[in-house]
Order: sequence, then structure tokens, then C-alpha cells
Amino acid sequence: MARIAIVGVGAIGAVIAALLQSIEQHELLLCTRRPLPHLNVETPEGNVHINYTNITAPSQVESVDWVIVATKTYDAPGAGAWVEHLCKQGAPVAVIQNGVEHRERFAPYVSVEQIVPVIIDCPAERRAPESVHQRGPAELFIQSDVLGRSFAALFHSSAVQITLTADFLSAAWRKLCINSAGSISALLGKPAGVFQNEAIGRATLDVVRECAAVGRAMGAILDEDLPQKVLAQYRNYPADSVNSLLADRLAGRPMETDARIGAIVRFGQQHNIATPLNGLLLSLLEAI
Ligand SMILES: NC(=O)c1ccc[n+]([C@@H]2O[C@H](COP(=O)([O-])OP(=O)(O)OC[C@H]3O[C@@H](n4cnc5c(N)ncnc54)[C@H](OP(=O)(O)O)[C@@H]3O)[C@@H](O)[C@H]2O)c1
Repeated sequence: MARIAIVGVGAIGAVIAALLQSIEQHELLLCTRRPLPHLNVETPEGNVHINYTNITAPSQVESVDWVIVATKTYDAPGAGAWVEHLCKQGAPVAVIQNGVEHRERFAPYVSVEQIVPVIIDCPAERRAPESVHQRGPAELFIQSDVLGRSFAALFHSSAVQITLTADFLSAAWRKLCINSAGSISALLGKPAGVFQNEAIGRATLDVVRECAAVGRAMGAILDEDLPQKVLAQYRNYPADSVNSLLADRLAGRPMETDARIGAIVRFGQQHNIATPLNGLLLSLLEAI
């Protein structure tokens, strides 16, 4: 049994809470900015009512065994205030976010040796603060070192699929390549059906090619035909499916542009790899 604090109880934080609760051994502390009196998650396995203690200020908690951060990347400074307090006595922190800079984002708040970067694949959305819909299965990609394996063990026998990988870098860049295509639909303000268009398809291949080139320069191992696979994946989505960048734009929330497109441009500059299309997407989305 572990005492686990979750910082960022939106779509992904709630899905993680439901998975951990299914093991019936853990004590959950949900760390939220506003009181959260109850939380329901509609999972593919059925409706889950979460049992937890809710805290709204870092000073309300004493010690925990694990911290899980599942805020949006742009909320890292706010999440960092929680992490600084919760990890003071050495608790490790799993950062479940998109992008490739999990450690960099939380290094100002906790020793990097305590950080476990995690990538999640899971379609989920918040209907209301206390109601989350998980639309499909969840998969976690975790570095297969000692801390990563210990984090994975928290989910033992739950419904999540866990991939422990010796090459987390490649897993994170592969996901970023998939996400990079999503910025086109976010810019156009149109869901996945737009990828059926031939010209948009060609632009998508070029955007993903740029991302993959930067990823390879960073040391990621990515298939040559990854751009084609990413385009095929978007073309297979239901025409009305909305990626999270577009969902944020449509809801008038900030977008994870820096973590998702800014990272491609920044690391491209470091390695002298031109990323004109991602640079343009970044400027236009930031202007929006
Ligand atoms: N949703 C998906 O399908 C999906 C799939 C794969 C990956 N991801 C990635 O997973 C990460 C989380 O995404 P999400 O969709 O779960 O986001 P989300 O639904 O917007 O949830 C983020 C949560 O963080 C909370 N938060 C922000 N700052 C906080 C603070 N200082 N203290 C406490 N709570 C704070 C927000 O609370 P408030 O209610 O107060 O705003 C919100 O509940 C992102 O990096 C995303 O790209 C998401």
C-alpha cells in the first residue's frame, strides 16, 4: 500500500486515480486548487466513484510515498509549488505529461533523481471538475530503471497497459511526432476529418518529418516511415475527433504550444536542424 498524492486532477489525473483505486490498496490524496467534494470517472470498465482525501494547499499534507503530477505543461510552476512541498522528504514524483522535457520542467522544484517522466496514451476528457470520461484504454510508457519499475508496480493488476522501456527518449519523441500533427488541426480549428484532405496530408508529413529529424538528432530512434504512420493514424480517427491542443483552443484555454511545438523548434535550433513549418505553426498558434 502506498500513500499517493495526485497534483492535477483533470482528465488524466482522474483516470490515474481510478486505476490506482482499482487495486484497493492505496490511499489517495487529491491536490486541487479548489475543493473537490466528489469525483466520478466513466471508464471503459464501468463507472468508478473515487475515494480520497482532498487537500487544497500544500501545507495540509504531511508525508507521502509518491507524487503524481498530471497538470497541463503550462501549469508546471503551480504544480511545482506542490511538488516542492510534497517531495521535501524524498518522495519520488512521476510527471505524466506530453512533451519531452518532463525533467527540465520540474528540476527547479525537486532533485532530478526523484523525477520519473511518464508518457500516457489515453483519450479522456473532463465534463465537469467532478466528472471525467475515459473514452478508451490507457497505456503508460515508463523508463525501465529502478524508480520507473517501482512506479509501474503501483498499478500492478490494474487495467492500464504499462510499457517499461530502456529507451524512454525514443518513446517521448515518437509521441511528440504524433502530437506535432495535431497542431495543424488546432491551427485550422477543425477536427481530424481535415487530415483526409490531400494538401493537408502532405503538410502533415512535412511537419512530422521535421519533428522526427530533431528527435533523431537528440538520440531518439524513430522509424523512417513514422510520418506516414502518423498521418494514417489521424486519418483513421473519427472525422469529429478533437485533439487536446484543439480542445484547449476551442474552450478558450491556454494551449501546450511551448511543450509540443516550441520544443521541436528549440531543440532544432540547438542541433542546426531547420524547422520552418513547426516555427510557423508555433508563431501562428501563439498569436491566437
Ligand atoms: N486528456 C487526454 O486525453 C490526454 C491524453 C494524453 C496526454 N495528455 C496530457 O496529460 C497532461 C494532463 O492533461 P489533461 O487533459 O488531464 O489536462 P486537464 O484536464 O486540463 O487537467 C489539468 C488539471 O490540472 C489542474 N491544475 C492546474 N494547475 C494546478 C495547480 N497549481 N494545483 C492543482 N491543480 C492544478 C487543473 O485544475 P483546475 O480545475 O483548477 O484548472 C486541472 O484539473 C497534459 O500534458 C496532456 O497533454 C492528455
